[in-house]
Amino acid sequence: MGSRVTRRRFSAGMAGGAVAVAGRSAFGALGANERVRLGIIGVGNRGDQLIDAFKPHADAEVVAICDVYAPYREFAAKKVGGQPFLTGDFRELVGRKDLDAVIIATPDHWHALPFVHACAAGKHVYVEKPLSLVVSEGRAMIEAAKKHDRVVQVGIHRRSVPSCRKAVEAIRGGAIGKMTACRSFHISNEWPLGIGNPPDSAPPPGLDWDMWLGPAPKVPYNENRCFYKFRWFREYSGGQMTNFGTHWLDLIQWAIGQDAPRGVFAVGTRGNIPDNRGVPDTMEAVWDYPDGTIVSFSQYNANASPGAANKSYVEFRGTEGTMLLQGDGMVIVPEVVRGEPLPALDPTNRKGNQRQAAATRPAGGKPIKFRGSSSDTVHHARNFLDCIKTKGVCNCPIEAGHRSTAATLIANIAGDRKKYLAWDAENERFTNDEEANKALAYEYRAPWQLA
Ligand SMILES: NC(=O)c1ccc[n+]([C@@H]2O[C@H](COP(=O)([O-])OP(=O)(O)OC[C@H]3O[C@@H](n4cnc5c(N)ncnc54)[C@H](O)[C@@H]3O)[C@@H](O)[C@H]2O)c1
Repeated sequence: MGSRVTRRRFSAGMAGGAVAVAGRSAFGALGANERVRLGIIGVGNRGDQLIDAFKPHADAEVVAICDVYAPYREFAAKKVGGQPFLTGDFRELVGRKDLDAVIIATPDHWHALPFVHACAAGKHVYVEKPLSLVVSEGRAMIEAAKKHDRVVQVGIHRRSVPSCRKAVEAIRGGAIGKMTACRSFHISNEWPLGIGNPPDSAPPPGLDWDMWLGPAPKVPYNENRCFYKFRWFREYSGGQMTNFGTHWLDLIQWAIGQDAPRGVFAVGTRGNIPDNRGVPDTMEAVWDYPDGTIVSFSQYNANASPGAANKSYVEFRGTEGTMLLQGDGMVIVPEVVRGEPLPALDPTNRKGNQRQAAATRPAGGKPIKFRGSSSDTVHHARNFLDCIKTKGVCNCPIEAGHRSTAATLIANIAGDRKKYLAWDAENERFTNDEEANKALAYEYRAPWQLA
């Protein structure tokens, strides 16, 4: 039998005291010069990048590695050097007494379980985005971090990138006036091949496919479901909505100072690319926020206009200007704003009325450009290490990571339901669709249980 993840069950289970292994000095703060001993779970694409992001910091060392694919474990072991502890079972890693912190870079359906175990074992945690596969997991993760008083950094690394911090500071300081709308995009043309349509097959040697699936339904191995491409299957992830959308929704909610939307509408289609993906290749989502700001995310994966592939950017549209933020820099285009009210329109003078209307349009004042440093993750890793030592709050604490992830998760549910869903953020429930509420949690495959 699977386990339904709910707040009540999770709390009851933790009170029962399932896992209790203290780390080296994990329950106390580390000295400023002490090395933070790290274990990493999942060393594929992102895990490998995170090893690089922690490497420049002399006070961090990776001493334990877990992956269900033996060749990746061995590759990572060579990279970190020394004699790291190697395992395919995260429970063996989080239970080690010689670790202070754990990095989780597994596919999204494998974030919550190792996170909760790691907190209970007294480890601080750096966990990749999106925080969870479903909203109820994210809530359970917050409770675990609180209960065990752990330092958590969610891998939404733009929170530590200087140019993004500067952009948010500028917006919050009123640089573009009152925010009206924020539009965000992920654009790349994957047509006509996409991820293809490979047949099911035997898993590659060295891969524990059953463990890779974990709490997800048991299905035969298909190469598209596994390394990196799991993103295109809802059993393990949420498509570009949660992959890239989480980064942008986080930046937007942070900039406009709003924790959560009061509703979302979304629609998606996946017929444009003839591959076996289970998520839309084209999608539009619109959220409305309590302060009146309208936010959107457009995912176009079968069309790459305005030109270059992999265009990912955000437009912040304010009453006094527009900030365009992309990659490693931003541009502010000021509005030309009328200083006095519009004169009354003359019903007999159509041409004159058009001229008056035109006078209120932006004339594209001189752009203000900032260039930031590259959007790498080294700063985010540094911030995590510092917070472990000071017991401080990280740049992307778990509550923020959860709220940004939840915004995208509910958009996928709205896309499935093809309707506007009203969201009660405090209680984390939809108020106008009971059916939609069922998608906020899911049944784990036995023997996995979050509690
Ligand atoms: N912050 C960012 O910008 C960023 C960038 C890329 C990926 N990510 C996130 O990182 C996560 C991983 O993505 P990826 O691109 O590295 O995928 P990937 O498939 O390349 O790597 C995932 C690794 O986890 C391993 N794994 C699966 N189940 C496991 C388990 N139970 N225990 C141990 N290892 C397990 C796989 O074998 C694989 O090596 C995703 O959640 C993704 O959203 C974040």
